[in-house]
Amino acid sequence: PAGQGRIDFRDVSFSYEGTSAPVLKHISFTCLPGETLAIIGSTGSGKSSLVHLLPRFYEVDSGSIQIDGVDIRQMNAGQLRQKIAIVPQKATLFTGTVTENIRWGKEDAAAEEVEQAARIAQAHDFIAALPEQYNARIGQGGVNFSGGQKQRLSIARALVRKPEILILDDSTSAVDVATEANMRQSLKEYAEGLTCILIAQRITSVMDADRILVLDRGEIAGIGTHEELLASCSVYQEICRS
Ligand code: GTP
Repeated sequence: PAGQGRIDFRDVSFSYEGTSAPVLKHISFTCLPGETLAIIGSTGSGKSSLVHLLPRFYEVDSGSIQIDGVDIRQMNAGQLRQKIAIVPQKATLFTGTVTENIRWGKEDAAAEEVEQAARIAQAHDFIAALPEQYNARIGQGGVNFSGGQKQRLSIARALVRKPEILILDDSTSAVDVATEANMRQSLKEYAEGLTCILIAQRITSVMDADRILVLDRGEIAGIGTHEELLASCSVYQEICRS
């Protein structure tokens, strides 16, 4: 149905409990269904805080957030979980097989769904190269996998739930640029209509997003395409130079 996965931030301000300085100040933007919106900004600019408001890990101080026109305060945890999958900065894998790790959160996923999610996340090839493939065991904390492989497994875990909104919080930082580009291409092809918010540090990770939101000390310094921001946003120009 039309309008799925639309996000509206309306004049949102937020501070952590027990602190007075707001971490996010008067944030307003709309992310359209199926859009990929990248968020970039220096360390501490509020990127993670912003996306953590969506599943209501924290509540806004003022303003409101709507998903598909509904204030998220009207939605319960189950409804939010159904719509949103968030991949954290640090992937957490547990002792178990590759399949069990990907299926976590959607225990009834069929083997084909697990494989499709792994393919989109660019994890299938390295899984297929393991002696036991999808039945290979992952050691505690994923010790036998590289950082980038763990990130790809945790993205597959998010995709298998078929969310309307996928949030990648710096979740491809250890994935090489070429693999990351393949992943974005697969996401476009297989997960059409998926709204994606992706936080990244590298310009190469954000420049072909539909739009980029530039955060600077809790405020929006600019929002637009790579070309638009290069022409108009000094904070973005600075990030590109560094
Ligand atoms: P990087 O992940 O380093 O790129 O930063 P970010 O842009 O994601 O910023 P983030 O939202 O993590 O932090 C914004 C500000 O909030 C910083 O000043 C943090 O120190 C502060 N902050 C983050 N998490 C917490 C928290 O749980 N409690 C408190 N009190 N402050 C926090």
